[in-house]
Amino acid sequence: MGQEMKMPDLPCATARQNGIGESMRILGIETSCDETAIALVDAFGRLRAPRFKIIVAEISSQIEVHRPFGGVVPNLAKREHLKNIPFLYQNIIRNSIHEPADEIQNSLDAIAVTVGPGLEPALWTGINFAKDLYEKLKKENKNLKIIGVNHLEGHLFSFLLPQKAKNIKLKNVFPAVALIVSGGHTILLKMDSLEKWKKIGETKDDAVGESFDKVAKMLELPYPGGPEIELLAAKGDCRAILFPRPMINSKNYDFSFSGLKTSVLYYTRDHKNARKADVAASFEEAALDALVKKTGRAAKEFAARSILLSGGVAANKKLHLKLKAVSRELHVNFFAPPIKFNTDNAVMIAGAGYMAHLRKKNRRLTANGSLDI
Ligand code: KG4
Ligand code: ZN
Repeated sequence: MGQEMKMPDLPCATARQNGIGESMRILGIETSCDETAIALVDAFGRLRAPRFKIIVAEISSQIEVHRPFGGVVPNLAKREHLKNIPFLYQNIIRNSIHEPADEIQNSLDAIAVTVGPGLEPALWTGINFAKDLYEKLKKENKNLKIIGVNHLEGHLFSFLLPQKAKNIKLKNVFPAVALIVSGGHTILLKMDSLEKWKKIGETKDDAVGESFDKVAKMLELPYPGGPEIELLAAKGDCRAILFPRPMINSKNYDFSFSGLKTSVLYYTRDHKNARKADVAASFEEAALDALVKKTGRAAKEFAARSILLSGGVAANKKLHLKLKAVSRELHVNFFAPPIKFNTDNAVMIAGAGYMAHLRKKNRRLTANGSLDI
């Protein structure tokens, strides 16, 4: 339990005092779905150049618990979060080895917790843990803040998280077109800055990640289906079956994946001997084509300087390659978070917490399963 993502690399809280302008030490907490995650992150800089340094990050995945049911069971998720969250917190404190526990707790400037969208019983476990911790630490640490975070903003801002590539200069980013693709969402945004964006399209039915998970089930692959489809698809022929690409030529920027899913269902029912790898590859190609074509068209129409990609489905390498190719064709930049920060994690919640602080946007500490971006 508690897979550690990064060892501490900061000597002490003084390291963040050399930040430019603002700086904050943030504890991020994420429990919106089937990952319990906590991270300690130092954030620096103002809205023109925010930067983040990960001190330590912990994730406990519930995949094995939900796998027999073929999907996430909300009450099981809640039970697992309740069980895991205190252990992860202890690990965070213990792994921040350069400072004693009290000092770490007193050095916190904010606790950032996901309040939605997601499974409400799961969200509440994180919110209640954050509130209790806040009340406890506030006795000693009078300036401590608690920030409610939109999970989708966590994904959206994840391209700013530390990665091997050089620091991103925001003048090379905006205006941008941002594609957020996860198990619950498929959203296209036009972004003018880190403060201003507008939704220009979204799925009218299933989210793209959901369609990967459902098609994986049809092919008798385990949950979660996205990575399994990607692995199997790599062994198949993506031109073997021409699945429909619903709404691909529609004038708007909306998506639809339920018709594609149904086509795969009928195909597998009517072609019992079909190669599963070919079905997986052809499905993946159809789903990604729709995402890439609309994102590219939006980037062109809005004269974007960059395309931003985030969310669990952004872990798909073929999607990266396709969007990179389109970006090159259009002479726009392409930014995505480091691969491990595509799927749900608490580093992105700490990051979005800092952005919410800079933007002076704090959400109510109430679970909101259908919170929009
Ligand atoms: O962002 P995320 O971790 O959770 C939500 O906020 O929903 O996204 C999870 C989704 C799942 O549907 C999963 O199957 C999909 O992301 N996913 C992938 C890949 N890795 C995860 N889909 C396609 N290819 C992948 N490699
Ligand atoms: Zn997510």
